[in-house]
Amino acid sequence: MTWNKLFHNEEPSDRYTLNLLLDEGFRLLTEGVAFTQQILNASNVEKGTTQFMVQSVDMKKVVEDIAPMLKSIAEKKGLKFKVEIGEGDYHVTGDEIQLKESIRNIIDNSVYYTPAGTITVSLARKDDKIIFKVQDTGIGMTDDVKKKLFTKGGRGKESLLINVNSTGYGLFFVKKVIEAHHGKVHAESEGKDKGSVFTVELPEVKHV
Ligand SMILES: Nc1ncnc2c1ncn2[C@@H]1O[C@H](COP(=O)(O)OP(=O)(O)O)[C@@H](O)[C@H]1O
Ligand SMILES: [Mg+2]
Repeated sequence: MTWNKLFHNEEPSDRYTLNLLLDEGFRLLTEGVAFTQQILNASNVEKGTTQFMVQSVDMKKVVEDIAPMLKSIAEKKGLKFKVEIGEGDYHVTGDEIQLKESIRNIIDNSVYYTPAGTITVSLARKDDKIIFKVQDTGIGMTDDVKKKLFTKGGRGKESLLINVNSTGYGLFFVKKVIEAHHGKVHAESEGKDKGSVFTVELPEVKHV
């Protein structure tokens, strides 16, 4: 069946096929754009050509803005997706778009690299720091992978098999952005198939 025939055919089953093809086309296009964007983001942040805004950013809003979309992707994979945000205020100073992109990268990874189980996203405060954490029950990380994490193109051997859009540039970008915000990011895993925990610490701003 050619595109032309599909477009002009009123058969419900053909319309259904057309819709599926269009959905798939949009999905591939969106993923392709996201793939290229990830490398561009990493390249700009490395060259120092990323402009950072300095404004008050509500991390609770950042998490609540992006969580529903990622939750729905996770649930389609059969994963549980929990968001745990404690009472109170979670303001930091910085660039909302770049912070959102960083948080999205970390959650996105957990969804990709977790075949079964649960993703838990949380926000908490410790001393004068805001702690954002993503814990998963996924493929975990060997010492080899851990050594390369946060470096350009640093990714595990299995990554491309699991995530066709793997670039190995996502966490490199995340680290640069978080450090530009005077924060820290680190990862823990007890090893292969033992799940992973990614933690971002950002200095809290007292909101009055
Ligand atoms: N939640 C996670 N669980 C297991 N491995 C992870 C997780 N997050 C990141 N990784 C590992 O770190 C590598 C680098 O991550 P990232 O920079 O986002 O690149 P990629 O485009 O490959 O996802 C991944 O390829 C994977 O090997
Ligand atoms: Mg990634």
